[in-house]
Amino acid sequence: MGAKQILIINAKGGVGKSTLSANLASYFSFKGRTALCDFDRQMSGVRWLERRDPSRRRIDSITGWEYRGLDQYDWVVMDSPASIARRDVVSLVARADAIIVPVLPSPIDIHAAADFVRDLIVYGKIRTNHKPLAVVANRARPNTAIYNLLKSFLHSMRLPVATTLRDSQNYVHASIHGIGIFEMDPLMVARDVEQWQPLLRWINEAVEKGRMPLADRAPQAPLRARSSVAALPVRAKKPVLRAAGS
Ligand SMILES: Nc1ncnc2c1ncn2[C@@H]1O[C@H](COP(=O)(O)OP(=O)(O)OP(=O)(O)O)[C@@H](O)[C@H]1O
Ligand SMILES: [Mg+2]
Repeated sequence: MGAKQILIINAKGGVGKSTLSANLASYFSFKGRTALCDFDRQMSGVRWLERRDPSRRRIDSITGWEYRGLDQYDWVVMDSPASIARRDVVSLVARADAIIVPVLPSPIDIHAAADFVRDLIVYGKIRTNHKPLAVVANRARPNTAIYNLLKSFLHSMRLPVATTLRDSQNYVHASIHGIGIFEMDPLMVARDVEQWQPLLRWINEAVEKGRMPLADRAPQAPLRARSSVAALPVRAKKPVLRAAGS
């Protein structure tokens, strides 16, 4: 059985892709052989691993696009860059067993996410290829106006929200020390660890479903290519993805 590849992707910058990737890799390091595959030239993932004490559970670092030898791993977490070219999105999506799109609750981020998810549907063919995709609402405060706006947008797009993560300094501390919240004092991170549980369950189910023959899979909720984002107050300038070759 090959490695299960989990892709964290959003063409918008600063939404938490590297934070989610690092914490996911930290979690999987307790479950099996794990690699963090960093496609970003900023190399946040690589640097995070460099800060990691060698006595910690092992996470291998893979960089660049020509990666090979994934069969030796149980889990591969793929951290993608912002402003990623469309052809690269297509290539990463084709490899992924499950796709996670972190989104921040702000009007600009919601519009950018809408454009990006449309590209995943149209060019990444996630529906045709039955690629499980879920959104993570990151740095969100439930019951605020903007959080409710994010929820209603995701609902209108028929996008499953795997979980909502709060804004927490625990992620910042973990990042500084090359660890994930799963490796911190359980009392200190209890709320954050709890918020991860639905996402971890979703990943497990998504990966299991991927092993089934197509005909046995439950149909995914339809993802509409157009949504009611026109009602949102701020419009993103352009779709964030560049055309291939640009
Ligand atoms: N839930 C959170 N609580 C507090 N801080 C967070 C949270 N998620 C992310 N951050 C912080 O937000 C900043 C951006 O996060 P991160 O680097 O993970 O985003 P990114 O999408 O990978 O960015 P880029 O597009 O530049 O690669 C970082 O400083 C990170 O520590
Ligand atoms: Mg990053």
